[in-house]
Amino acid sequence: MSFKKILGDGSNFGIKISYKEQKKPRGLPEAFIIGENFIKNDSVALILGDNFFYGQGFTKRLSEITKKNIGSTIFAYNVNNPEKYGIVKFNKNNKILNIEEKPIRPKTSFAITGLYFFDKKVVQISKGIKPSKRGELEIVDVLKKYLKNNKIKLEFIGRGGAWLDAGSPKDLFDASQYVATIEERQGLKIACLEEIAFNKGWINKNTIKNRIKFYGKCDYSDYLKNIL
Ligand code: G1P
Repeated sequence: MSFKKILGDGSNFGIKISYKEQKKPRGLPEAFIIGENFIKNDSVALILGDNFFYGQGFTKRLSEITKKNIGSTIFAYNVNNPEKYGIVKFNKNNKILNIEEKPIRPKTSFAITGLYFFDKKVVQISKGIKPSKRGELEIVDVLKKYLKNNKIKLEFIGRGGAWLDAGSPKDLFDASQYVATIEERQGLKIACLEEIAFNKGWINKNTIKNRIKFYGKCDYSDYLKNIL
């Protein structure tokens, strides 16, 4: 519910946000069951709350994928500790051969990131899968269904991009340091929501002024003042 506290109904950013809570950790695919009425006949994206993505041109790439996604699109990233993640094996044409969740002996070093695009079939597929040994519905089981139907596309976040995970205190610390280093060097914030919304023309100067009052005296407010 921290997200709700910070983001509210989205009006401060010129967008509409609604919420549904997963009461117990029954696995990621339950999001599509809980969100069935929200998805209806649309395509849908899922992003995990502890995942961080950063890289030149990434926003543009994502908006292109939302337009042309057929079935599912997932992202792979080369990591040092693949056993901690869902893993993807692919051939030289980037066709997916195999997907595994946290294998003890990973066959590749390419992790599946926590950003997924699906068509509306994901709701029925999620309803049809069974919980794994750890008692949760697994997102890789959903991906395997798309793989079986030959309806999954693999994209890569290359060497120039960053995919960080903030799911443990150490990971959160590393991600914070990364953000601090880039922000301090450039004097520009990463993902300042008011700045993005203002540049997109979704909010006006008055909304920013209200946000400055809301945040009070702090560096973030000073940054927003600079935008004005
Ligand atoms: C989940 C997914 C895993 C994916 C990872 C990305 O793992 O099950 O396939 O690679 O997110 O962050 P979890 O964070 O639940 O351990």
